[in-house]
Amino acid sequence: MTPNEANHKIDQLSSEIEQHNYNYYVLDKPTISDFDFDKLLEQLISLEKKFPEFFSPNSPSQRVGGGITKNFKSVKHQYAMLSLSNSYNQEDLLDFDRRVREGLGITSVGQFDGAIDYVCELKFDGLSISLIYEDGKLTQAITRGDGVQGDDVTTNAKTIKSIPLHLKGKYPDKFEIRGEVYMPRPVFDSLNKEREEIGDALMANPRNAASGSMKMQDSAQVAKRKLDCFLYYVLGEKLPHQSHIENMHAAKTWGFKISEDAKLCHGIDDVLDFINYWDKKRFDLPYDIDGIVIKVNDYNQQQNLGFTAKSPRWAIAYKFKAEQVSTELLEITYQVGRTGAITPVANLKPVALGGTTVKRASLHNADIIEKLDVRVGDYVFVEKGGEIIPKIIGVDLSKRKAHTPPTKYITHCPECHTELKRDEGEANHFCPNENECPPQVIGRIEHFVSRKAMNIDSLGGETIVQLFNAGLVKTIADLYDLKKEQILPLERMAEKSANNLIDGIEASKSVTFERVLYAIGIRHVGETTAKKIAKKVKSLNVLMHSTKEELLEIDEVGEIIAISIADFFSNEKNKEIIRKLKHAGLQFELSEEQQQGGSEKLKDLTFVISGVFAKHSRDDYKEMIELNGGKNSSSISKKTSYILAGDNMGPEKLKKAESLAVPIIDEDTFLKMIK
Ligand code: IVH
Repeated sequence: MTPNEANHKIDQLSSEIEQHNYNYYVLDKPTISDFDFDKLLEQLISLEKKFPEFFSPNSPSQRVGGGITKNFKSVKHQYAMLSLSNSYNQEDLLDFDRRVREGLGITSVGQFDGAIDYVCELKFDGLSISLIYEDGKLTQAITRGDGVQGDDVTTNAKTIKSIPLHLKGKYPDKFEIRGEVYMPRPVFDSLNKEREEIGDALMANPRNAASGSMKMQDSAQVAKRKLDCFLYYVLGEKLPHQSHIENMHAAKTWGFKISEDAKLCHGIDDVLDFINYWDKKRFDLPYDIDGIVIKVNDYNQQQNLGFTAKSPRWAIAYKFKAEQVSTELLEITYQVGRTGAITPVANLKPVALGGTTVKRASLHNADIIEKLDVRVGDYVFVEKGGEIIPKIIGVDLSKRKAHTPPTKYITHCPECHTELKRDEGEANHFCPNENECPPQVIGRIEHFVSRKAMNIDSLGGETIVQLFNAGLVKTIADLYDLKKEQILPLERMAEKSANNLIDGIEASKSVTFERVLYAIGIRHVGETTAKKIAKKVKSLNVLMHSTKEELLEIDEVGEIIAISIADFFSNEKNKEIIRKLKHAGLQFELSEEQQQGGSEKLKDLTFVISGVFAKHSRDDYKEMIELNGGKNSSSISKKTSYILAGDNMGPEKLKKAESLAVPIIDEDTFLKMIK
């Protein structure tokens, strides 16, 4: 390829990819499969590598991240980023409307009905961002900061797929557009699920998650956070229209993601209707909103009203009420999690809130307790906001009895009495006694036997506690020394369940290496990371002797994971456990088939698995498909090659399969295919 051709091809691929990003992330109407999309992106990335002279900083290849920002540069906003004044009820809003009309000299009904045109918008709960475009290209993305200056987060913002890197249509040559970066609820939930699995501290809510993500130094990590961005405010000298709503419609044609739910309301009564509607409907949205923003639509009117020092007079935020009650704090207890993290819990006098009875609320960590200055015996305000667990938002000091002592945070583990530690920059204290502290040991065993790990389903949580309490199992390795005679005397243990338990443990010895690697519970090594590591190192022995540099070469492994792996294997107790597990016969290497990279028998075939199977588990079948070069998918489409069906396949799936004429095969047929 000549440089000229390459240049041309890079341009063409870039615009094609950006169009697909737009279709998918803004319009929500993809027209290409993920697979084909990835191929286009790979082509672009490889051309850019070969012809770096044609690389542009706004190439869609930047969306996957990679750029590191060590220190975010502080930049001054051209237009200050003000906030909005808040309102909480109908009265506040009627006051606002009165002030607006007075400000504009519309006091009596004259030639028109005196009603103001307001645009009502959802108040997205994330972090605000200002994007600057010059000649249709994104040149800078800045956080709000203190309103006067913020952080330059351009590299990270480029990973947000709904933020256009190039604009379409007829846009002003230079303008600023502001909006809210947020994390969709489903993304937040699944990230937290992953974190729970690998023992990371959970993120409190999507807002914190979004703002934490935008401040990460490694943009490749930001890209994984799947952030999104709604835009709601354009600023510039040469905007095409004289009203907010028209400019927002225009911005939509330039490629921005603008909410479909904004509405032009005539007069404050329409505004109140809009608010009432969303007060209930907001729970159906796939992202969090914490209120409604009301803006005067007409720019002349906006200009006449102007600003106070803090906020525009032409706009106001209405904040939804989080339900709130006050109740007595009876006691503060402390929970120890699987990874040793300590969480203080408020035990409350039971009180009704949001349809349930609340007895407990999280107090998160020592700093929060100190900030709230909550003390046992206080009356506290409890609120159910975006989080599932209710939180304490304040103390009713008027009800505090004299001489109530301030809360002293515990210094020792409530379970094993080891002195607690707290790492710099970490919010939570933790118990360092990882190998003896009961909830940590039990938690680790529970993880070890869980479905995606060793899958010993005959060993339930209660039995684990019994085994631990009886002193029979102190580490995951002890499971393999268990004898039937030892477990039979346990409460509620019958002959049959004892047999099942022993058989289950025995069967786990054939669980594949990557799952063993996930099961042993190295901090930060989740299911996917374990798979990638296993594929690369091929055996535990190699992993144990890998240097940090070697580990960092593995896809998915960054600094934190590399250190965690090294720490794990330098711990003498862990080494002892690994020795015992090896001796017991666990798979510490990829199988021969895996070593050879499996087969290509299912190359280009996509499978959907449905129903329950007799011979292997669904996860096993998934693995077999991947091992033999096939792909798994969760939904049936024209692209599905086969449905691997067990018993009780869902009727909807069956209907869909029939309508698309996708062949349905049973497990025997499948096993023959890969034989
Ligand atoms: S307009 C001068 N519209 O709420 C007007 N803000 O304190 C600037 N927000 O910092 C803001 N949704 O982060 C506007 N539809 C919306 C919004 C919105 C969320 C946030 C924004 C701002 C805060 C108001």
